[in-house]
Amino acid sequence: MVIAKQSLSRMDTFRIFLLVSMGPIVLRGHVEFNNVHCLVRDRKFMDFEYCYLKSVNRSYKYLSLKTKFFQLPIESCMTKFQLRMRENKRILYNFDIKVDACKFLRDPDKHVLANWVYQTFAPFSNMNHTCPYTQDVVIDRLPVHHVNKLVQTIIPDGRYFMNTTWVTDGITRADVVLYITKA
Ligand SMILES: *[C@@H]1O[C@H](CO)[C@@H](O)[C@H](O)[C@H]1NC(C)=O
Ligand SMILES: *[C@@H]1O[C@H](CO)[C@@H](O)[C@H](O)[C@H]1NC(C)=O
Ligand SMILES: *[C@@H]1O[C@H](CO)[C@@H](O)[C@H](O)[C@H]1NC(C)=O
Repeated sequence: MVIAKQSLSRMDTFRIFLLVSMGPIVLRGHVEFNNVHCLVRDRKFMDFEYCYLKSVNRSYKYLSLKTKFFQLPIESCMTKFQLRMRENKRILYNFDIKVDACKFLRDPDKHVLANWVYQTFAPFSNMNHTCPYTQDVVIDRLPVHHVNKLVQTIIPDGRYFMNTTWVTDGITRADVVLYITKA
């Protein structure tokens, strides 16, 4: 079993503090999902049944995905979450967190930042309980406007990608990368 510690460096805390504190002045824009990539790193372990963005109309666009696990149950899961803001190929800031998902899900309120990320998709996912996982993970129509509500006052305008890496038993199984513009 993987026993991993939640790691959140002082630097991350400082960065998020900076972002939050400069928030209300600069932040008004709206979020757009530009693209999503679901990359399988271990095809013996899993695949994605689907993974896509869909525009229903101008105000309703969503993200859906479903995994297909070949080895269940899942008893341990490390998640690495990276947020990168990019402008003209320069990376303006990095934000990284790493959590033991099973431990985190037992008590989400304990880890403020991970909980913030989690709240953006939990209401639209069946991943809202702790381990073991005995089923495929589904994110069902996560609407952009919901994400917008959560990030609107926290991140500055710009182009981002959000990279989540899923590791079980010490082996990287998949990356889900979401490209976002806030303007
Ligand atoms: C967009 O589609 C959603 C879901 O079908 C609907 O509830 C909403 O009223 C539509 N909005 C517009 C502006 O057409
Ligand atoms: C998890 O999500 C499902 C489907 O949305 C919902 O029926 C269930 O009540 C949720 N469970 C928890 C613990 O929030
Ligand atoms: C996402 O993170 C993983 C693990 O750190 C890394 O290997 C991968 O290259 C990243 N993907 C992107 C698009 O940066």
